[in-house]
Amino acid sequence: MKKCIVAIDGPAGSGKSTTAKLLASRLGYIYIDTGAMYRAITLYALRKNILSDGERICSEMRSLNLGLKIVNGENKIFLNDEDITQEIRAKNINDNVSAVSTIECVRKELVNKQRILASSGGVVMEGRDIGTVVFPDADVKIFLTASIEKRAKRRYDENLASGKEIKYEDVLKNLESRDRIDSTRVHSPLRKAVDAFEVDNSEMSIDEQVEFIKGIVQMKLGTPVTEQGL
Ligand code: DC
Repeated sequence: MKKCIVAIDGPAGSGKSTTAKLLASRLGYIYIDTGAMYRAITLYALRKNILSDGERICSEMRSLNLGLKIVNGENKIFLNDEDITQEIRAKNINDNVSAVSTIECVRKELVNKQRILASSGGVVMEGRDIGTVVFPDADVKIFLTASIEKRAKRRYDENLASGKEIKYEDVLKNLESRDRIDSTRVHSPLRKAVDAFEVDNSEMSIDEQVEFIKGIVQMKLGTPVTEQGL
């Protein structure tokens, strides 16, 4: 059975990670979160205090060892063998990651890595440019979206649940600013691929959207997904 590539793109807070992770597990596929890779480079640049020096970020990132691994069923990201899974979700990363991801050579390096990671297929990859740039020939492309208020409310609730008290207005402002930077940048801006299915999940539960997208995958591949996956 052919192992395909499912590309999921969409704005911050649209539920891509949760959806892509669950979809991958129901298909028996590997899940790849490309946003985590941009976050890891942002963390490195912040630690080294080189955020405003794009050239240095590019030259130093080539010798970094970025690892995506599954540990005890959890997706983890490692920077030179250090587990940075939690740290890349901090506010200072949220505030700077969109700017770092506008740097052309950062994108080039990470896109190369993403293509290698998915080279044998059987992958659900989520990000901003997966269906447009990383895998323009992906078998299935989804553009996941929701109203900005819904996205901000979800992020606000997630923060509260994990003990982070960030005001709703601040969450909304951060999303608005990231939407603007992500969709207006020169290199690989966030946009829906012409052949992507747009799924607005403003009024959908997580299970509904995963099943809906699984249905699109089945329809595109003409193969029912069984208990064992595709
Ligand atoms: O999905 P996320 O919120 O973790 O992504 C963090 C940032 O990384 C996002 O603001 C834009 C950038 N990004 C990107 O430019 N291209 C991708 N394929 C994934 C993320």
